[in-house]
Amino acid sequence: MPFTIAIDGPAASGKGTIARALAGHFGFAHLDTGLLYRAVGARGGDPVQAALDLSPADLARDDLRTAAAGQAASRVAAIPLVRAALVDFQRRFARQDPGAVLDGRDIGTVICPEAEIKLYVTASDEIRAHRRALELGADPAQILRELRERDARDAARDVAPMRPADDAVLLDTSRMSIDDAVVHAIALVKGAGA
Ligand code: CDP
Repeated sequence: MPFTIAIDGPAASGKGTIARALAGHFGFAHLDTGLLYRAVGARGGDPVQAALDLSPADLARDDLRTAAAGQAASRVAAIPLVRAALVDFQRRFARQDPGAVLDGRDIGTVICPEAEIKLYVTASDEIRAHRRALELGADPAQILRELRERDARDAARDVAPMRPADDAVLLDTSRMSIDDAVVHAIALVKGAGA
């Protein structure tokens, strides 16, 4: 039986780093599902067609990590048919042996409600903005405004809004180093039977 780890949370909460570290530790595959929406946004044109046509080359673009790509992703991610086009790929990815880690906004609630463990990773707005500003070499105040705008849109949309699953374990990384957060996450996943 494959073991699925679902990780959700707002922008720059540390979920991507934790997801990668868990995948490395347990020898599982990792899918950053945000990249799918970033790639759809970056293709331009009809977002539904872009989601249906998405190819590995789209995911390898080097301009997907910018703040503008994050905003474009969050806009196309609110379109139900865009999300629907990406569901099967994510579910197939989740059910591979020996296991998979997926991180995003709706993994525990919509994509993998049966995941063996669900983590919801958060941190204060200011800390998240500080981390992302360091990553992108950008102005923290501007990043803070953008993160808040994106989080609000992601949480308020009708389809697959960002929220913790009822059975998700909350992991607030505000006062943790990334190494501490990873150690903590590994212990939670082991506790769930991995
Ligand atoms: O890395 P960061 O947390 O800033 O963003 P991301 O995970 O790359 O996601 C970019 C955008 O894609 C988010 O703001 C969401 O609008 C959307 N997204 C989503 O709707 N569902 C997911 N499973 C993953 C991302």
